[in-house]
Amino acid sequence: MKQSIVLSLTLLMFNSFFFMATSQDIALPAPDRTGGKPLMQALSERATTRNFSPADLSLQQLSDLLWAGWGFNRPAEKKRTAPSARNVQEIDVYVSMKSGLYLYDAEANILRQIHGRDIRAVCGTQDFVGTAPVNLIYVADLGKMGKKEGDEITDSDLLYPWTNTGFIAQNVYLYCASANLGCVIRGLVPRERLAVEM
Ligand SMILES: Cc1cc2nc3c(=O)[nH]c(=O)nc-3n(C[C@H](O)[C@H](O)[C@H](O)COP(=O)(O)O)c2cc1C
Repeated sequence: MKQSIVLSLTLLMFNSFFFMATSQDIALPAPDRTGGKPLMQALSERATTRNFSPADLSLQQLSDLLWAGWGFNRPAEKKRTAPSARNVQEIDVYVSMKSGLYLYDAEANILRQIHGRDIRAVCGTQDFVGTAPVNLIYVADLGKMGKKEGDEITDSDLLYPWTNTGFIAQNVYLYCASANLGCVIRGLVPRERLAVEM
C-alpha cells in the first residue's frame, strides 16, 4: 500500500455549480513548483493503484496536486499546467474529502466549500472509493463553450471536455508518481447520483 493516496475520477456534466464563500473554505499553501522527481523517472513510475491508505493528504500535498493538475503556471496570461482546446478552460475540479465537497479555485488557491458532507462513497462504484482520502471530480461547464440550459449535447460537444480532462488527469498521475501517492482515473462513476449529492 502506498504511503498516502489520491484518487481521481472523471465526470462530465452540463450544469455549473454556484457557491458562496463559507468559513469552511480551505486556504491552500503556495504550491511548491520546484523539486519532485525528474520527468523521466515520474513517467517510469506512473501507474494505476487500487489499494489506498485512508490517511489524509497534507495541505501542501493537496496544493501541489491541484496545481500540477490544473493550476495556473503562467498566471499573468491566465494559462494552466494542462492545455485546453481554444483555451476555453471549461473543466472545474471538485475535491471530495471526509470534511466535505470543495471547488478548486486555482486563481485564489483556495478550496471553496460547497457543503460539509462526505460523499466519497458515491464518487464511484468500487469499494476503495469511499475510504480513499481524496476524490477529484472533473466537471465540464459547457456554458463556457456556448451551450445553454436545455440545448442538445452531442458526442462532438463532449470531445474537447473529455480530451481536456485526460490532460489534467495525466498531470495528476505524474504528480502522484513523483510524490509517491497512489492514483486511479475512473470512468466507473454513478454520474446522476453523484450530481444530486454534489
Ligand atoms: C478513461 C479511463 C477510465 C478508467 N476507468 C477506470 C475505472 O473506472 N476503474 C478503475 O479501477 N480503473 C479505471 N481506469 C484505469 C485503467 O484500468 C488503467 O489505466 C489500465 O489498467 C492501465 O493501467 P496503468 O494505468 O497502471 O497503466 C481507467 C482508465 C482510463 C484511461
